[in-house]
Amino acid sequence: MPHTLDKISPYLPFGDRRDAPFYGHDILSVNQFNRDDLRYLFGVAHEMREMVARVGCFDLLKGKVLANLFYEPSTRTASSFMAAMQRLGGSVIPISEVRYSSVAKGESLPDTVRTLECYADVIVLRHPENGAAALAASYAQKPIINAGDGTGEHPTQALLDLFTIHEELARVEGLTVTMLGDLKYGRTVHSLARLLSLYNVKLNYVSPGILRMPQEVKDEVSARGVAQYETSDLSEVLEQTDVLYVTRVQKERFEDPAAYESVRGAYVITPDTMRAAKAKMILMHPLPRVGEISMDLDSDPRAAYFRQMEYGMYVRMALLAATLGKA
Ligand code: NCD
Repeated sequence: MPHTLDKISPYLPFGDRRDAPFYGHDILSVNQFNRDDLRYLFGVAHEMREMVARVGCFDLLKGKVLANLFYEPSTRTASSFMAAMQRLGGSVIPISEVRYSSVAKGESLPDTVRTLECYADVIVLRHPENGAAALAASYAQKPIINAGDGTGEHPTQALLDLFTIHEELARVEGLTVTMLGDLKYGRTVHSLARLLSLYNVKLNYVSPGILRMPQEVKDEVSARGVAQYETSDLSEVLEQTDVLYVTRVQKERFEDPAAYESVRGAYVITPDTMRAAKAKMILMHPLPRVGEISMDLDSDPRAAYFRQMEYGMYVRMALLAATLGKA
């Protein structure tokens, strides 16, 4: 469902561009983007990359404040949003230990976001419950950016994943993308499959039987006419794959520890696995990895996961600039 909620204040802050795409908008789901939006955002992200290479920091968001509200652990998402804001000259209120905030006293999510928006211009939220970002957005006047809601979505990760594919392979059309690992609980693949279905791609899903891609996501993807194939055997699809997207088994989402034990370590990508892969394939992972990709692969030029993290900062710079009317 496209999200059209417009949170533009009647008092236009000096220098904000009211006509800028995404100005005042929440970023809740990849379903709110079309291909024109992506072309625009990736164009801005590409410029951010060049500016960072040239000058490091610049004052596009000087005077703006980001509240980074994380109810779940994060290294990359939290720190890349902070770095993105700081490289654009803005500042950050980091709340990554909610147990030291009033959340520990029982404060509700609506009250916490209505507090933070008194001090900040935009709120990045990660929460363990599906739909938490949409709930927060329905209370907040300022833009909410979903940084992962339970097993639901992780739209900014999918945007950076797609930007990575675009920058590394120079196209998206016609690619075969294979997602591997925990496709049931992994929110990154839920968002990425939906976003890729805007293009003419082929999607393969490789997982143990109990960790298959949810039917709801498959239905949305097939409604856009994208071919999907499921298997538990990577070797069936590896040779045709242009992008291999590996995910961690999401231990914290399992109700039954025995079920987790039955699938942990189900797939491990090693230099040996990569012998059957295309010379120009890219290997991606949202990280953290907990053994699914051997460290012996890190020096393989196809290993794109460290570059992927860096692309993430440029995409988040573009998103912050866009939602704050400065892109
Ligand atoms: C992912 C997440 O939090 O969903 N991490 C990230 O944001 N880079 C993936 C994961 O935790 O496995």
